[in-house]
Amino acid sequence: MISEEALTAATVRLFDEIEFQAKPEGLYDPLRYMISIGGKRIRPSLCLLSYALFKDELGPEVMEPAASLEVFHTFTLIHDDIMDRSPLRRGQETVWKKWCEDTAILSGDVMLIDAYKRIAKAPKAVLDKALELFSKTAAEVCDGQQYDMEFEQVDRVPMCDYEKMIGLKTAVLIACAAKMGALIAGASEQECEALYRYGYELGMAFQVADDLLDAYGDQAVFGKPIGGDILNEKKSWLTVRALEKTGDPEGFLKVFTAKAETKEECAAKILAVKKMYDSMNVPEDARAEIVRYSAKALEAVSGLSLSDDRMAALRNFAEKLVGRAK
Ligand code: IPE
Ligand code: IPE
Ligand code: MG
Ligand code: MG
Ligand code: MG
Repeated sequence: MISEEALTAATVRLFDEIEFQAKPEGLYDPLRYMISIGGKRIRPSLCLLSYALFKDELGPEVMEPAASLEVFHTFTLIHDDIMDRSPLRRGQETVWKKWCEDTAILSGDVMLIDAYKRIAKAPKAVLDKALELFSKTAAEVCDGQQYDMEFEQVDRVPMCDYEKMIGLKTAVLIACAAKMGALIAGASEQECEALYRYGYELGMAFQVADDLLDAYGDQAVFGKPIGGDILNEKKSWLTVRALEKTGDPEGFLKVFTAKAETKEECAAKILAVKKMYDSMNVPEDARAEIVRYSAKALEAVSGLSLSDDRMAALRNFAEKLVGRAK
């Protein structure tokens, strides 16, 4: 199988060499900025990995589709940071903070269009399917983002609704990445679906981990402000689980919805909410949930007849996501 090093090197090269239109700079500089500050690039990596499950060499035909997944993802981040009022991304200022909201809206829009131009370069034989998968996924991400915002306004969100919401805002794109690589490599329908499931379950694990790190991560490593979800009153996995477990939902919600404006008030609120999570062992539950999803991901591909080294690559990828600190 193509080595992990070769796949990583291909992803690095892809974004070292990526180009966006030169002018107007005010429109395209934010795109260059977001790509240059990096990110983990798990979606293009997963796309290349799933391609490598069925091919012995990395063909050029998978490169633009792999790039399109990261470009699309980055567009969602630019708009997400406006919606979540987040000042920090990948350890750097967010686009709306560094430039302004209008720039973040328009640069985000053109980045989405750029993603479409790249996915449109998928091989002719699979172009219809690739475009359909991409468009369906992109619309689902918007659905998920809408639910995420609507949930800020309601007191209680059942776990099943939370799961649907993160399935849409996060898991479907990771699922799409896993399926896209297989599709472009000419894998069968059944293989493509198994990889979609693998990506979906991993995506669920990934968002629960993101929610956990949002409260318990190290800002210097995570690259995003710690406690942002608490201050936004997001129905994160931690909140939903805490509300399932607490014997005093009113008491929990009183602290969770308390006004916090000054820096000191915000810090105190984050601390108070985390104390309640801790008292109910919510972080431990989240870690168990991440492991559970990751096991489901591996189960989804267990029926594929892949060589041992290819199965090991899928296991490694899942393990890295589960153990992530950023
Ligand atoms: C952040 O995605 C948004 C979520 C779906 C949680 P990543 O954690 O993949 O962000 P980058 O691209 O590595 O910065
Ligand atoms: C992001 O969810 C999902 C998308 C960007 C589609 P979050 O709002 O939790 O992502 P971060 O934490 O800002 O990266
Ligand atoms: Mg968000
Ligand atoms: Mg956000
Ligand atoms: Mg988050």
